[in-house]
Amino acid sequence: RKPVIIDCDPGIDDAMALLAAFRAPELDIRAITPVAGNVPLHYTAPNTLKILALGGREEIPVYPGADRPLTGQVREASEVHGADGLMGWPMPEPRAVLREEKAWDAIYREARALEGRLEIVATGPLTNLAIALAKYPDLPQYVKKLTVMGGGACFGNATPAAEFNIYADPEAAEMVFRAGIPIALCGLDVCHRAHLTEAEVAQLESFGTVQAAFCAALSRQELSWAVPYGTPGAPMHDPCAMLCAIDPTLFHSVHCWVGVERAGTYTRGKTVTDAFSDAKRTPNTDLVLDVDRPRFVRRLLDLLSEYGR
Ligand code: BDR
Ligand code: CA
Repeated sequence: RKPVIIDCDPGIDDAMALLAAFRAPELDIRAITPVAGNVPLHYTAPNTLKILALGGREEIPVYPGADRPLTGQVREASEVHGADGLMGWPMPEPRAVLREEKAWDAIYREARALEGRLEIVATGPLTNLAIALAKYPDLPQYVKKLTVMGGGACFGNATPAAEFNIYADPEAAEMVFRAGIPIALCGLDVCHRAHLTEAEVAQLESFGTVQAAFCAALSRQELSWAVPYGTPGAPMHDPCAMLCAIDPTLFHSVHCWVGVERAGTYTRGKTVTDAFSDAKRTPNTDLVLDVDRPRFVRRLLDLLSEYGR
């Protein structure tokens, strides 16, 4: 099994990604490190504990991370995720508590202990990882792979150019892309292709468990946001990155250079992706551009159906 740390900002689609990950036999989840993002850390950290309780995985330790970006303004997406980050959904009361150790210290400690086998899946702003890199410059040599939900080649959602996770902390994202860690980047391009249709959401709901009911409700929330923009279903942003870490064979990627724009008039927080230019900058990222959608949907639903068994 792959030892992984999940760095996230739950967040409704983070919650679905976590619930899927909890049932994936490929993963040995060593820790979860919440960060401020969709909503403030004083929600994302307790939300992580609640999701662990809902998923029956309260033995996984949770190390709280950054409560704001490295620099600049705090961004939120509570209009999508609700003021508490989980649409006010009635969650179980957790028995576990947050650990005292900070996210960046836990990431480095685990990475060292695993001697280069640790993988990280990041589905929120990259602040925790940037702090870990600043504090422990030798961290990259201990991280086997980092799978990120963020950015994209073609379009943004927070602004016309920028995707939320990167826009929320562009300086942190740029540090992460410069670090020399092998990165798989699931941007908006592939996340919109990795969508669930209303019929597939109904199928998920039919599993009849509390976990499936929650995931169906949050998928419908994503649907209500996406359909007016012409997306044929609910984009599975964070589940897309999680499944890419679980089974990369579901996806197609291009190995290329990615950098993060920090100064543009219209483009702050945009990932600049050198997939097709003549510049051919030295590649640092597997830019994930496509998904085998039928297999993706089957695997996601299979993982979530495990709760009924
Ligand atoms: C990403 O931003 C957040 O709102 C979601 O949780 C996801 O990680 C999509 O742009
Ligand atoms: Ca997220």
